[in-house]
Amino acid sequence: MAEENKSPQAAASKPSAAGKSKPPAAEAAPAKAGAAGKAKPVPAKSAPERKGVYKPAEGRAEANPFKDSRTGAVESWFQERFALLNPIIDYLRKKEVPRHRLSFWYYFGGLTLFFFSIQIITGLLLLLYYRPTEAEAFARFVYIQTEVPYGWLIRQVHAWSANLMVLMAFIHMFSTFFMKAYRKPRELMWVSGFVLLILTLGFGFTGYLLPWNELAYFATQIGTEVPKVVPGGEFLVRVLRGGEEVGGETLTRMFAMHVVLLPGLVLLFLSGHLFLVQVLGTSSPIGYKEAGLIKGYEKFFPDFVAKDGIAWLIGFGLLIYLAVVFPWEIGVKADPLSAAPDGIKPEWYFWAQFQLLKDLKFEGGELLAIIIFTIGAIVWILVPFMDKKASREERSPLFTILGLLVLAFMIIGTFRVYLEYGW
Ligand code: HEM
Repeated sequence: MAEENKSPQAAASKPSAAGKSKPPAAEAAPAKAGAAGKAKPVPAKSAPERKGVYKPAEGRAEANPFKDSRTGAVESWFQERFALLNPIIDYLRKKEVPRHRLSFWYYFGGLTLFFFSIQIITGLLLLLYYRPTEAEAFARFVYIQTEVPYGWLIRQVHAWSANLMVLMAFIHMFSTFFMKAYRKPRELMWVSGFVLLILTLGFGFTGYLLPWNELAYFATQIGTEVPKVVPGGEFLVRVLRGGEEVGGETLTRMFAMHVVLLPGLVLLFLSGHLFLVQVLGTSSPIGYKEAGLIKGYEKFFPDFVAKDGIAWLIGFGLLIYLAVVFPWEIGVKADPLSAAPDGIKPEWYFWAQFQLLKDLKFEGGELLAIIIFTIGAIVWILVPFMDKKASREERSPLFTILGLLVLAFMIIGTFRVYLEYGW
């Protein structure tokens, strides 16, 4: 490609180089003179300069620098039209990814990205039929599910892909944590990644209410109440709900956050995250290089990208299987005047936090839970700056223990809610 890359530029430079050496009229004149024998060379007459006549400035870029290059081959066609991207493609071709026994975990960031792309596509399709009002939301979901051609599939894929995206983001976060991939100079990859996780959870929270069914209604009621115990939290609750209670205003706000605010923020942070991934490259686990555990390096493009593609295909197969075989129920329409049914619980990815809130059911317990979450999140986001040993490429068992404790908290809490409430 490098060779082919050069050809358009080289071709581009030829006409101007020829143009600079001698004006064509001057070249033609001696030839004629030679033919006539001793006749004196006639100096070439340059056209008299006339004012107001367009004359290209010297050194002006050639209007079509690619006019002499080979066309027809698909690759060169694209190279010529998107010549600006050539350095980026070259860079990606040079980039390499280390191969070792933990390489498997490198696929989860890409899988998170894949399920996010599915969310954007299916979300746009759902938007064609959905209406975010108290009166219509539930009916529109029933309509999409039963009347719109393939509407059921799109809705199921959107719901399952959301769950898979969250799951992949968690696996990606813990795998990068235990490989200490956050260490210098990748601190901002960790920080931007953590923000992405919070935004991903925000998608789940705001999307849950959109079908306007009973379960979602009461779960949102409980979820939006949590900040109340914090000083000034009443204000936040009102902002989230658009009033004192969960109602039509809440639905409009959740909808706006779900389809405008959160996608915008995710795109912003994702661009930063992926830019850093490309610029800083992929890390290898601490001590692997020194211990000779790196089996070699593979080209990011096309080798790693092709393997990423295989992971995406497997993910896609799983997604369609789940969407067809285990469809999500729509439930019954929310009735704000009815009493909350038993067994109201949030989505599974909030179960660990939900369990802690339940465990601390005493005076001031909720506030304590919020303080624990807030301090926990701050410590978690600052891990790359605190783990100095990892930044010096030394093992840091204390942080591994911290990661194991957080993982255990998540798994045990989730499992306890499952045992009590079922799926
Ligand atoms: C929407 C969510 C996310 C997406 C789409 C995403 C995407 C990616 C991709 C494609 C990579 C490169 C391949 C790989 O190493 O897996 C990557 C690397 C990385 N991500 Fe994420 N990520 C997300 C969330 C997170 C979270 C929650 C964290 C941690 C809090 C995180 C931290 C990192 C780190 C530290 C790396 C560098 C890995 C290395 O160099 O070895 N990311 N991310």
